[in-house]
Amino acid sequence: MVRTMETPMSEKRLRSRDWFDNAERMDMTALYLERFMNFGVTPEELRSGKPIIGIAQSGSDLSPCNRIHIELAKRTRDGIRDAGGIPIEFPVHPIFENCRRPTAALDRNLLYLGLVELLNGYPIDGVVLTTGCDKTTPSQVMAASTVDIPAIVLSGGPMLDGWHEGELVGSGTVIWRSRRKLAAGEIDEEEFLDRATSSAPSAGHCNSMGTASTMNAVAEALGLSLTGCAAIPAPYRERGQVAYRTGRRIVEMVAEDLKPSDILTREAFLNAIATVSVIGGSSNAQPHIQAMAAHAGVPLDPAIWQDHGYDLPLLVNMQPAGAYLGERFHRAGGVPAAMWELLQAGRLHGDVRTCTGQTMAENLAGRESRDREMIRPFAQPLMDSAGFLVLSGNLFDFGILKTSVISKEFRERYLARPGEENIFEARAVVFDGSDDYHHRINDPSLQIDDSCILVIRGSGVIGWPGSAEVVNMQPPDALIRSGTQWLPTLGDGRQSGTSDSPSILNVSPESAVGGGLSWLRNGDVIRVDLNRGTCNALVDDVEIARRQAEELAPETPESNTPWEELFREKTGQLGEGGVMEFALKYRGTARKLPRH
Ligand code: FES
Ligand code: MG
Repeated sequence: MVRTMETPMSEKRLRSRDWFDNAERMDMTALYLERFMNFGVTPEELRSGKPIIGIAQSGSDLSPCNRIHIELAKRTRDGIRDAGGIPIEFPVHPIFENCRRPTAALDRNLLYLGLVELLNGYPIDGVVLTTGCDKTTPSQVMAASTVDIPAIVLSGGPMLDGWHEGELVGSGTVIWRSRRKLAAGEIDEEEFLDRATSSAPSAGHCNSMGTASTMNAVAEALGLSLTGCAAIPAPYRERGQVAYRTGRRIVEMVAEDLKPSDILTREAFLNAIATVSVIGGSSNAQPHIQAMAAHAGVPLDPAIWQDHGYDLPLLVNMQPAGAYLGERFHRAGGVPAAMWELLQAGRLHGDVRTCTGQTMAENLAGRESRDREMIRPFAQPLMDSAGFLVLSGNLFDFGILKTSVISKEFRERYLARPGEENIFEARAVVFDGSDDYHHRINDPSLQIDDSCILVIRGSGVIGWPGSAEVVNMQPPDALIRSGTQWLPTLGDGRQSGTSDSPSILNVSPESAVGGGLSWLRNGDVIRVDLNRGTCNALVDDVEIARRQAEELAPETPESNTPWEELFREKTGQLGEGGVMEFALKYRGTARKLPRH
């Protein structure tokens, strides 16, 4: 139905009316109208009371994973127009995960801040959040919660599946695996580049279950995307169709006054955590979900990752935990099919409200997968208890381990000793940041062997700054050549969601703020007990106190830009989501109109 002035959208006065329908300050209304008309909107329309729908455009040449949105926005605009709204497209701060130095992690909170100002300060009644690359999803959802106007997530979709010589090669995952092949002398540099570029055959975000696919699945699991949206590959016809339907739906959401605060409940976040477990999602989901929840006013105890999600099985057979990539996942039913399994097993809150206007259970009706090689039934999973383990001890208060990527070989070597299942001790080899790791990893004097754990520090929120994806350190070349693909690793940074490394990461507090890794030394023995959830250096308290008193903490590089300095001042640790604490008190800013 095309709505007109005669069929008002909502009983509630739209916030945009304050800009375009201001009887006392006609001069100001005239000023607003003057330039907005330049993109094909008439003054009559702007004053007619039609809702103004923002399209937060995250695609650009600096954000190539999201570039498809430049095209998709045309379809979204059509949908908005056809439903009786006025589309206004504007850019957000670009984020490109694997090119941005010193790390794209600096950008999540920066995009957030910028988008809050845009949504709050302009005449926007509802917004389409265009997502794709890792942090472009959480940042925009965080902003939508702060402002709390109707918002819907439109993901751009993954690239087509990558193939190299008959083998499926997933973005990111192919890099980590090919690096090991390069180190082992199995391939040369030319083949390495060829494998890498083969993994990225089209527009779209990473086609493996890396952080991008995970976070778009999370948006859908939270109830913020139309059903089935997340997994549609970017170049598919259905991608344009869902862009159109998303445009139509946001206009209705404005009429219904259906806001993030109506959707983002505690139950919705629990659904998201459960979904991340069964899809074999990225360890980066932990800080991002933690941050989105905090901004939605739903504080989550970080232990929730284990309590709520660990015992769930791995159902989705997608790299890096499984075999396949995004196209097959979509054809197998995508996120709704995985969530359908959770719902049948009684592990999903089906009664939560979603952006469709229906409950999650209603959205999932009839969504059972017919491709059981790709999406396993709950009772016949790829792996049991495949969620995240949460660890603590004298080295840190919080660290997380993604168990779905722990290989059979690794389990047999480290976690299957009779009488000591899930417990191992290893000699620490400590690196101060990734340069130090690259310079020294092949140094024979370190005598790195199968009894070692590789530790990296100085890679957290303050230390890097931003927190870097560096914990998935590969063993020395010589060790790889003799057959060791993985050593245990530990660090205060993150790792790529596309990595298959069994790492204890996101460790908080980090070394740069005096966390336990700052006093750890080469040769210390670390005991990891996955049954108890502990990770301790076997160093006595007197010695720890002596080191803390005597030794200088590892050096932290100076800030290089104003934002790096401000970010370091305001951003918390990864365990709590790396949020800017002071920002959490701003929620529902749209309830009050900004000063004229
Ligand atoms: Fe952007 Fe993976 S690098 S989605
Ligand atoms: Mg990443």
